[in-house]
Parts: sequence; structure tokens; C-alpha cells
Amino acid sequence: MGVNPSLSARISGVGAFVPPKVMTNHDLEKLMDTSDEWIVQRTGIKERRWVEQNVSTTDLGFEAAKAAIADAGLKKEDIDMIIFATLSPDHDFPGNACFLQDKLGLAGIAALDIRQQCSGFIYGLSIADKFICSGSHKNILLVGGEVHSKGLDRSPKGRAVSVLFGDGAGAVVVSATEVKDPKKDGHIIATNLHADGAYAKELWLPAPGTGFDDPDRMSMKMFEEDMHYPQMNGKTVFVHAVKRMCETLVHSVTSSGFSMQDVDLFLFHQANMRINDKVGEVLEIPAEKVFNTIQKYGNTTAATIPLGMSDAVKAGKLKRGMLVASAAFGSGFTWASGVWRY
Ligand code: ACO
Repeated sequence: MGVNPSLSARISGVGAFVPPKVMTNHDLEKLMDTSDEWIVQRTGIKERRWVEQNVSTTDLGFEAAKAAIADAGLKKEDIDMIIFATLSPDHDFPGNACFLQDKLGLAGIAALDIRQQCSGFIYGLSIADKFICSGSHKNILLVGGEVHSKGLDRSPKGRAVSVLFGDGAGAVVVSATEVKDPKKDGHIIATNLHADGAYAKELWLPAPGTGFDDPDRMSMKMFEEDMHYPQMNGKTVFVHAVKRMCETLVHSVTSSGFSMQDVDLFLFHQANMRINDKVGEVLEIPAEKVFNTIQKYGNTTAATIPLGMSDAVKAGKLKRGMLVASAAFGSGFTWASGVWRY
């Protein structure tokens, strides 16, 4: 099959879903020794969503997916591949894309999981873009979804990490298109993907896993040592996040032939308001061009960018034809950026 050089990929639809249960900082004060003041000052987070016990990551992804497919004006049968980015899958294996595919009733199409944590959505967007531009696929459903609440240490000793994360899902449909007017027509212009595994243990979930001197993937010893809870060196993450997000964002924008001033809207990963404020300060980005959602959702990892995109559309801040630049940083360390005309 020859590749059509005028073939591009565009985001044809966007959707999101968050569980209805709101957990405010004051609610967390009842579970652990923390305060609204500490959380707001250090992170900008005021509240986040937590699922009910019987809700999984693909349940959230399913709702976001249906909304994105409807927004694209498509039927679910038009989707020819599912990509699911998550670090909190329903089960260890198979991946969430398979479970979501079954919920959608789309047996037979390709289903792929991405394990790139906070950078997972942009990694997925890059993969979808390449599959579309190769001519092999026409409409790819890309979902970023997390249920963090079930994997956090909600006891007093978990406070340093557990206040940061929330549950939610966002989805886009990436569709084939031919761009007639690059200044108006929606298309993905660039994606850049990076990682440095030397920092893998600065932000990680050690267990279950085979990387222990233990016959079992999960043992009582791992439980007792809290290896089944996320471990984070917050200060190292902060410093690297600012540096890498600035680097990759500028690279994606300028190597696409734009200046930072040309960008209409910046959609950053939502780990911490202070990280995004610092990126904005270093790159002299006007605050009104940055769309943040961390105040109300916390860090939803792979979901933050599509969730933000969906909220920005609903708020009238993101309109068709606008130039969007996005950057993310997270566990791995991984980092990534993208530029697209919406
Ligand atoms: N409530 C109250 N006090 C707390 C809490 C809490 N939830 N958590 C920690 N503290 C205490 C600590 O015990 C410490 O007390 P001490 O001084 O008596 O020892 C004090 O607050 C300061 O703790 P630090 O860890 O030094 O706090 P810091 O100012 O570094 O802020 C934070 C922590 C917010 C995690 C910060 O390091 C940060 O923003 N890091 C970036 C990492 C991040 O955002 N990760 C999100 C996930 S990763 C991603 O998506 C990229």
C-alpha cells in the first residue's frame, strides 16, 4: 500500500467523563494529617473525583469514548483501532484496550495499551498520527483514563502522594483528513517523545512485579513494605518536569515553524499548578493562554490532557482552527509534547 503524502491526522472528536463523587481537601483532612491550606499552596488542588467501589478505569473510559465518538459525528463501528493509556488498568493483563473494546462491542479491531504514565496521552497521539498517516487506519479511538483512588495509601502515612491524584478519563478520536488550508484545517502537526529510564525509581509503583528477589510477583513482604503504593521523590520530579516540559514544548513549536506567540492555547499535563506556573513563567506564556483543570480534578495522569481539552471546548476556550501546544512529564521519566490545529 503506497502512502498518500497529503494524508494527515486530525482530532475529530473529544469527550471526557469524571465520576460524580467529589473529594475535597477537607474530606482528605478526615482521613490523613493534611490541610486544605497545605494542599492548595503546594499543588493548587482543591478537590478531585473518586470512583465508587464498583467502578473501574474502563468504565470511565467507556463513557469518555462514547462522548468522543459522538462528538466526531461517527458511529462506534467507524473506529478501527483503540489505544488506551493508563497506569491504573482494570487488571494486570490483558490491557484496558481489550476490556474497552469488549464494552464497545468492537471485536476484531486492533487494541493497544500504552504504559507511559503522565506522558501516555501524547505518546498515544503520536502513535495514532503515524497509523493514520500510513493509510492503514481511518478513525482511532485514543483514551486516557485512571482510577487512582483504589491504588493510593489513604491512611495517614500516604499523605505525601495520595492528596495529588484523582480519577477520570478523557478520549479523542483521531481521523484521517486531507489538509487544504493548514492555517484553518484541523491536523496534528508534530509530536515529540522522550524518556530517561535512569530516573525510573524516582516515581514508580514497585509491586506486583518480577523485579524482586522473591519467587512471587506479590508477597507479604512487599505488602508490609508498602511496595504496592506509588513512591515518589517529589522534589526531583518537580525540577525535571519544569526543565523537560519547557525543552520539549519549545522544540515542538519552533521546529513546526511557529513562534510561542503563535500558539492560541497551551494544554499542559496537570501534575501540580506550581509546575505549570513555572513553565509559563520561564517561557513567558500569558496565563490566559493556559487551560488548567488541576484545581477540580487533581492529577489524573494519562487523562489530564484529553480531559482538559474537553473542558476547554465546553468553556469556549478551545475552538476549531486554533493552534494548540501541549506538553507532559511523568514517571519513567517520560516526557512528550505535541502541536496540533484543533
Ligand atoms: N499534608 C501536609 N503536610 C504534608 C503533606 C500533606 N499532604 N505531604 C507532605 N507533608 C509534609 C512533609 O512531611 C514535610 O514535613 P516536614 O518538613 O516536617 O518533614 C513537609 O510537608 C514538606 O514536604 P516536602 O515533600 O518537602 O514538600 P514539598 O514542598 O516538596 O511539596 C510536593 C511536595 C507537592 C509533592 C512537591 O514536591 C511537588 O510538587 N513535586 C512535584 C511532583 C508532583 O507534582 N508529582 C505529581 C505526580 S508526578 C507527575 O504527574 C509528573
